[in-house]
Amino acid sequence: FYEVHEIVVPHLGHVPIAKGDFHRLPKKVQKFIAYYCDLLTPRGLYICDGTVKEADEVVHKLLERGTLEPLEKLDNCFICRTDPADVARVESKTWISTKQKHDTEPDCKEGVNTIMAHWRSPEEAKKETSERFPGCMAGRMMYVIPFSMGPIGSPLAKVGVQLTDSNYVLLCMRVMARVSEKVWDALGDNDFVKCVHSMGCPRPWRKKVVNHWPCNPEKILIAHFPEERKVKSYGSGYGGNSLLGKKCFALRIASVIARDEGWMAEHMLIMGLTDPQGREHYLAAAFPSACGKTNLAMIKPGLPGWKVLCVGDDIAWMKFDETGQLFGINPEAGFFGVAPGTNWKTNPNAMHSFQANTVFTNIAKTEDGGYYWEGLEDELPKDTKITTWRGEPFKIGDPIKAAHPNSRFCCPAAQCPIIHPKWEDPKGVPIDALIFGGRRPEGVPLVYESFDWNHGVMVGAQLKSETTAAAEFKGKNIMHDPMAMRPFMGYNFGHYLQHWLNLNKAPNKVPKIFHVNWFRVDKEGKFLWPGFGENVRVLDWICKRVRGEDVAFKSPIGYMPKKGTINLEGLGPIDWDALFDLPREYWQQDCKETQKFLEDQLGKDLPKEILEECKKQTERISKM
Ligand code: GTP
Ligand code: MN
Ligand code: MN
Repeated sequence: FYEVHEIVVPHLGHVPIAKGDFHRLPKKVQKFIAYYCDLLTPRGLYICDGTVKEADEVVHKLLERGTLEPLEKLDNCFICRTDPADVARVESKTWISTKQKHDTEPDCKEGVNTIMAHWRSPEEAKKETSERFPGCMAGRMMYVIPFSMGPIGSPLAKVGVQLTDSNYVLLCMRVMARVSEKVWDALGDNDFVKCVHSMGCPRPWRKKVVNHWPCNPEKILIAHFPEERKVKSYGSGYGGNSLLGKKCFALRIASVIARDEGWMAEHMLIMGLTDPQGREHYLAAAFPSACGKTNLAMIKPGLPGWKVLCVGDDIAWMKFDETGQLFGINPEAGFFGVAPGTNWKTNPNAMHSFQANTVFTNIAKTEDGGYYWEGLEDELPKDTKITTWRGEPFKIGDPIKAAHPNSRFCCPAAQCPIIHPKWEDPKGVPIDALIFGGRRPEGVPLVYESFDWNHGVMVGAQLKSETTAAAEFKGKNIMHDPMAMRPFMGYNFGHYLQHWLNLNKAPNKVPKIFHVNWFRVDKEGKFLWPGFGENVRVLDWICKRVRGEDVAFKSPIGYMPKKGTINLEGLGPIDWDALFDLPREYWQQDCKETQKFLEDQLGKDLPKEILEECKKQTERISKM
């Protein structure tokens, strides 16, 4: 009996194994690793087991190196400050590569570029990746991360293996996904999603490394190969670009798998909501990035007697069972949430979730080893000495930002005080309603219900929102973000809409579809709706509609609440009329713009049902 301490790969010869037993891995995984050892030429191989001991060792190393800084006030929490050039997802460098362009990009009108899923030919993708990947791990360790999206062994779960040269990625992956040796057994005869990530800084690296954060921003590339179930990410360590289980796998690749297998992979939170009578409903809601999913998934209800339990805050995998009921799981195991704006008032449950075992990225630090970001002004003494995410001294009230607007906390979902007891149920939870929403400062009412499934799919397809800091865009304007999936689509958006439409067939009982807007403002630019915990009042109305209660009237855009059917008890003055006003001109313009957008973007791929819904809506508005 002996242990194998190295593997032999064709060109490289011997690659030392720092940890793990290569020869006990499934053969197909061995092949995958050997191929990339040969290509990426790491100095060694580290096969992760997902244990706490392993994480502690990595943390120790990163503390020594200065990549992580401890937050002394908390338990096992750390700050990581990235290179300021690597702080968000890079959509312009996010590609989908399929043999046929039409599998990825819709048949746009001439002269129009798709805003969804950017296609590159396999040849071009191959050329671009082969300019980057060969030798890119020279002098660095290659970590092999086995992970499951979804509870290990759940019929809805899928396995991935990520190779990376970043141990920050390893630390966050083990929070966000289920990283464990058990994954090797769960894999069985199934396929796994192949994830390859490199910071793109082989040694010797002659450029300056900023903040102990190696990256290669000029060369960033996040290439998806849905047909091979493969993702290759280069040059960035930022979560959305580097934690490949999340957006790359659980949304872009999974949306393609879902199309092929007849289910849905969506940018949605899942929550359970129990009313004072003890009735529980499950809701899934899609809002674009930084528009309030994490906040809603964890709200502390502003109404007495209500209980909210969180199943997931960002991604939902949903499938109709044989009785036709839609079930959903949260494929993730942690929260990668936006820090700014989070405080004990707006989201106490998130606050509780990250008091231990959390990696914070690009937040500020207080002198006594606590966290700080915009939104915590009222919870700290005014004279607290703070260091910004860029390392500058800062006092509350200073005119610069202490934390990056897209700074994030990465913590285990199990630490959320209101995590649902069924959040890891292999079958998932039964979904009663789907909700879309975005930041709409004007024109769009607090809530409305679509007339039926097809109309609801159109409501999702026309989703728009004010831009935020979650991606690289600058300035504020209203952008289309169909189904909140614009940055995360893995295939032809027209085919995706058709896939949604097709789900409405026996025995499937399709849920009702709603639209919400917490962000409407008055003339002074102040929010008309208090939002956050008070949003439960809107969810209450949604649940009434799910039960078929007569609390709505027919408006041109959908069913809207009859005046007084949303419980406003205990709130300050609320301007109902301003919240629910439907300005005719605004909606005429909006209908026209939406239809043009869909026709431009989808051309012949625009499902006729959706075009029909657009036309019917325009007609209803014109009769207003
Ligand atoms: P990703 O994780 O990037 O997909 O975003 P998300 O949808 O989870 O967004 P998140 O919940 O982190 O919210 C982002 C921002 O929206 C924060 O700054 C919140 O303070 C703000 N926000 C959330 N809910 C509300 C609300 O009900 N009203 C108002 N006015 N702001 C809100
Ligand atoms: Mn998201
Ligand atoms: Mn979130």
